[in-house]
Amino acid sequence: MAQIFPRWTNKIPLAIGVGTPIALCGVVFVVWYYFSPKFTDVGYQPEQPVPFSHKLHAGELGLDCRYCHNTVEVAAQAAIPPLGTCMNCHSQLNLGDREGRVQPVKDAFEGKSTLEWVRVHMLPDYAYFNHSVHVAAGVGCSTCHGRIDQMQVVAQAEPLSMSWCLDCHRNPEPNLRPRDQVTNMAWFETPASKEYNPAEDPTRTRAVSPPEHCSGCHR
Ligand code: HEC
Ligand code: HEC
Ligand code: HEC
Ligand code: HEC
Ligand code: HEC
Repeated sequence: MAQIFPRWTNKIPLAIGVGTPIALCGVVFVVWYYFSPKFTDVGYQPEQPVPFSHKLHAGELGLDCRYCHNTVEVAAQAAIPPLGTCMNCHSQLNLGDREGRVQPVKDAFEGKSTLEWVRVHMLPDYAYFNHSVHVAAGVGCSTCHGRIDQMQVVAQAEPLSMSWCLDCHRNPEPNLRPRDQVTNMAWFETPASKEYNPAEDPTRTRAVSPPEHCSGCHR
């Protein structure tokens, strides 16, 4: 009697058994790789409750980052400024209050309402990061946050992924600058930056050695 199923069909169960896991692994890999933060978080730009502009305040008005983010040199966190910092200027009659844009800030300052900024950059809890160490080593804000002084609304400029951290930790020197230039957003566009050599900087007492071992960042 002729065979209904040719002999090769015996291999079908095996092919399914082996092929399915391989295909699934492929899918998992693709999702993991392409949807991991390297590709999804860059450009993340949530809408804020008030149209606060770094382009205006840090760019055009020239306020130093540390006027508002005043813990960045001494603490792990850079700190979002309290509304009192805004009111130093905005308590003056109608400053910048075209179309009532500053009104929510004033209302919240007087306790009539609340104002919650939407977080932009966020590492998972299991990764340890400290601003003051980086700033003290001469890594500038713009290296990790991009040209904030040109942003109307803050967007994430770098992936903040493990490989991004490690790329710098393995070879930090090209990213270092004099420590009094850390908030200079345009440092790497200046001629002085081409000549700067951290090894010859008299204000540096030692070479930097960022951790590459797991427990350096996963404590
Ligand atoms: C007048 C005060 C002020 C100044 C000056 C200022 N910032 Fe900000 N910054 C804020 C406020 C308020 C927020 C939260 C709202 C927002 O994201 O726009 C913020 C948010 C940020 C964030 C995003 C924080 C997050 O949620 O992840 C970064 C990064 C940042 N600032 C960097 C800088 C840098 C770099 C400078 C200097 C070039 C600077 N800021 C100058 C007030 C200021
Ligand atoms: C080496 C990279 C790096 C440098 C340099 C750096 N930041 Fe950040 N910044 C980060 C990372 C990573 C986060 C997210 C931290 C987290 O989620 O714990 C962050 C978060 C922030 C936040 C949100 C609040 C917070 O502390 O989590 C602000 C504001 C900020 N940075 C401002 C600044 C300013 C201003 C400077 C320069 C004086 C600066 N940063 C320099 C990497 C950097
Ligand atoms: C050093 C003074 C100063 C500080 C501090 C300051 N601002 Fe301003 N702000 C200004 C000036 C000046 C303008 C522009 C006025 C104009 O163009 O009419 C402005 C404009 C604005 C506007 C209107 C922008 C627009 O497009 O109409 C908003 C919203 C605002 N500021 C929010 C804030 C917030 C929030 C803070 C605190 C995190 C803050 N400002 C801190 C000086 C300041
Ligand atoms: C552009 C370069 C650069 C990037 C990007 C960077 N680092 Fe660093 N990191 C440094 C330098 C420089 C030091 C200082 C080493 C020293 O002082 O010897 C450092 C030190 C550290 C330390 C040891 C000091 C401490 O805080 O205990 C940790 C942990 C660390 N970095 C975590 C991170 C993490 C997590 C990221 C990514 C989210 C990151 N770094 C991104 C350059 C960088
Ligand atoms: C310079 C800092 C740094 C060092 C050193 C480091 N990590 Fe990470 N690691 C991170 C950061 C930051 C993240 C979170 C990245 C993100 O949100 O995508 C992370 C995420 C992870 C994850 C989560 C999976 C993933 O890809 O998101 C694992 C697992 C991990 N690290 C293991 C390790 C191991 C094992 C080592 C040592 C060989 C190590 N890490 C060394 C900073 C570091």
